[in-house]
Amino acid sequence: MSADAIRLDGKVAIVTGGAGGIGAATARLMTARGAHVAIADINGEAANALAGELPGAIAIEMNLEDESAVVDMIARTVSHYGRLDVLHNNAALLGPDVARADGDVETMDTALWDRTYAVNVRGTMIACRAALPHLRATRGNIVNTVSNLALQGHIIQAAYSSSKAAVIQLTRAIAASHGKAGVRCNAVAPGMTLTPALKEAFPPLLCQTVEGETLRDQLGEPDDIAQAVAFLASDAARNVTGHVLVADGGGASHVPGLPGFRAFLSGDHA
Ligand SMILES: NC(=O)c1ccc[n+]([C@@H]2O[C@H](COP(=O)([O-])OP(=O)(O)OC[C@H]3O[C@@H](n4cnc5c(N)ncnc54)[C@H](O)[C@@H]3O)[C@@H](O)[C@H]2O)c1
Repeated sequence: MSADAIRLDGKVAIVTGGAGGIGAATARLMTARGAHVAIADINGEAANALAGELPGAIAIEMNLEDESAVVDMIARTVSHYGRLDVLHNNAALLGPDVARADGDVETMDTALWDRTYAVNVRGTMIACRAALPHLRATRGNIVNTVSNLALQGHIIQAAYSSSKAAVIQLTRAIAASHGKAGVRCNAVAPGMTLTPALKEAFPPLLCQTVEGETLRDQLGEPDDIAQAVAFLASDAARNVTGHVLVADGGGASHVPGLPGFRAFLSGDHA
């Protein structure tokens, strides 16, 4: 099956965090594959700008920390399009200040921990809860964005990484409870992905170091993650549920230290 065969014709999708980075790439790709997309984002201006470019799209300004705004996001989408087929929970609490403050548990600020869980876990759960009756009606599905940091230990982002691990378990719980009613729930776990925000936050040397641990000749682009999401959201993935699709260029698939071993094998460390 070619990638173009993974169509989303006539489906209605919500993409949270759809105005930036990976979410915007996913909103574009889903539209290109035939879906109508509600771009839900805390940045209303950017959501409106993107919705203006994409046929059939609407923008919804909302903050995942605000329960009534999340519930309203689902209600507005269903009221506008008359149905909901795909909920893509992509937004997360991110940004250079957050990433800098979110380090090791010993120095963890409790307020930052709570906020991370409020956006990444509580917000995602509320969106799923509000969407489920509508997804049952369409035999639809949920795709949650997690992270390779949910699967491997690191010295950065203890709150973020553990919150994403919680979303993996939420994914499996929803898949188990609602599969027989026709609703699938999966997760995609990106590795370091070259969004505009990430390129600003991390120096090129750090990106090169991470790339050295991948099995490709470049880090992932937002569209690489969008392709994985579009597959999981499509009927082509009808037999896939409760799954975490790791889209990290193979970074987590091997014993760490590949750059050193490559040098060793080429004789540089002889
Ligand atoms: N970029 C990476 O390297 C990478 C790696 C692993 C996982 N991820 C995950 O991919 C997803 C997208 O990340 P990205 O890199 O595209 O981020 P990004 O910062 O480029 O975009 C995130 C979007 O979410 C919106 N947003 C933030 N907080 C929100 C809130 N409270 N309510 C509603 N919208 C909110 C932002 O306005 C923005 O448009 C996230 O779940 C992130 O954890 C990214």
